[in-house]
Amino acid sequence: MPKITLPPWLDKYVRALEPLSPERREEFNRQVAGVDWPLIRGLVERYVINDDGGELPIDTAAVQPADFVPIPSTPDDIAEANAAIAMGEDMLRAGRVGVLIVAGGQGSRLGYEGPKGTYPIGPVSGSSLFRFHARKILALGRKFGRQLPLLVMTSPENDTATRAHFHENRYFGLDPQKVRFFAQGQLPAVDRVTGDPLFTEPGRLALSPDGHGGCLYALARRDSADDRTALEWLESLNADTLFYYQVDNPMVRVADPWFLGLHEKALSQVSFKVVSKTEPGEKVGVVCVLPDGHKGVIEYSDLPRELAEQRDAHGRLAYRAGSIAVHVFRTDFLNELATGATRLPFHKALKKVPFWNFETGRKVEPAEPNAVKFEAFIFDTLPMATRSVIVETDRRIEFEPLKNATGPDSPETVRAALTGSAVKVLSKLGIDIPFDSTGRPRFALELDPCLEDNAEAILDRIGPSKTIDRPLSLFEDDRPPGK
Ligand code: UD1
Repeated sequence: MPKITLPPWLDKYVRALEPLSPERREEFNRQVAGVDWPLIRGLVERYVINDDGGELPIDTAAVQPADFVPIPSTPDDIAEANAAIAMGEDMLRAGRVGVLIVAGGQGSRLGYEGPKGTYPIGPVSGSSLFRFHARKILALGRKFGRQLPLLVMTSPENDTATRAHFHENRYFGLDPQKVRFFAQGQLPAVDRVTGDPLFTEPGRLALSPDGHGGCLYALARRDSADDRTALEWLESLNADTLFYYQVDNPMVRVADPWFLGLHEKALSQVSFKVVSKTEPGEKVGVVCVLPDGHKGVIEYSDLPRELAEQRDAHGRLAYRAGSIAVHVFRTDFLNELATGATRLPFHKALKKVPFWNFETGRKVEPAEPNAVKFEAFIFDTLPMATRSVIVETDRRIEFEPLKNATGPDSPETVRAALTGSAVKVLSKLGIDIPFDSTGRPRFALELDPCLEDNAEAILDRIGPSKTIDRPLSLFEDDRPPGK
């Protein structure tokens, strides 16, 4: 009978786990072996037992708004932007750019069971978020003569379903050799009072993803002795730059040459895209200059109200640089951080986590948050960089994330944005699009990113009437040629 192994501070659970069968004991021991217990113990001591509130209060007098490159408007701006675009396009042509989609989150606010990337967001066809992302990458590959390597970060929970979705959809036309999945790490959720890890049932810890900052470590992790890490894989393909974004936003201008060029020109280690916040309470992290003089992000939940509401001389929000979680990284910087001595900090979140009560022998569905989860955030790489660039973009073009089941950032708003971007392309081609009395298109539309620059194919699909008289999905067949 395999012995149950737990760190000494959790010895008290060994007796309760004695009835486990040999197989379940082995499974449990494997789960336990995958957890960095000294790290957890340290986090529990700091954030639960000696709860210091997690982070120090922000010294509002010492924080400053961060400068950013604004959306080009003057002729000088536009000339500079064109030079940056040319630089970014050269990087793409040279095959220096890889793409990372972080897709390991649990999507609890959306209330969707599967991986968020498989959510049927297409306003007409119900195509998945992943289909839109993959087709953008395919379009870039066609334009610049080689397919960009794509990394998809999953979690151990959704990894199989995510791979299956790509496989069933023949990778949406992408070359599978240039797509790689890797799972992020997990950490146990702990009881908010005792700091003990929670079990979902006897012999199973309640684990959850370690935050998108976990990608840093997962990118540099070797799963088996003969396996390359994701960073080594990129290096083998000569990619030294990584374009990072979240699976929840299908509007992202993937590998935008302007952004890449600005990053490259400044020799930036990490670059951020921001949008001007529309109101003080908008749920986006704000890029600021922190009291220690480093740039950093203050998450929306931590931004003191007096800063959130402060206005500048033009009446605009002073702290308006809202991060849309779109970044460019130098891969050597990622490597340095992943292998260096300073880890990304953890943030604590109070959550409701169903758990096994060993005293009553029953599972409990808590009505109130009972657990602490620890997560690392990718934006905490910013204060660690010596060179960074913050670039403003237009939210109407690039930012409509899927977060909630209803209301803002919901399927309804995201589908409207996808229809809106199709309308823009079709209108330029002289296609007649009917609108209702509120100014919204009468029919839902969606456009394959691979067709965006192909007027002939679009016009061919719409027909000689050049009129939209029904909901319309304009997609090329996803199958790669010859399949
Ligand atoms: C996030 C940012 C916020 C930013 C906003 C823009 C954080 C903490 N906040 O807010 O600053 O302005 O997006 O949309 O990130 N994910 C993983 N693994 C994880 C956790 C998350 O891959 O362990 C992925 C999710 O799949 C999701 C994305 O990261 O696509 C965002 O995570 P979420 O926790 O929803 O952050 P937001 O509160 O939306």
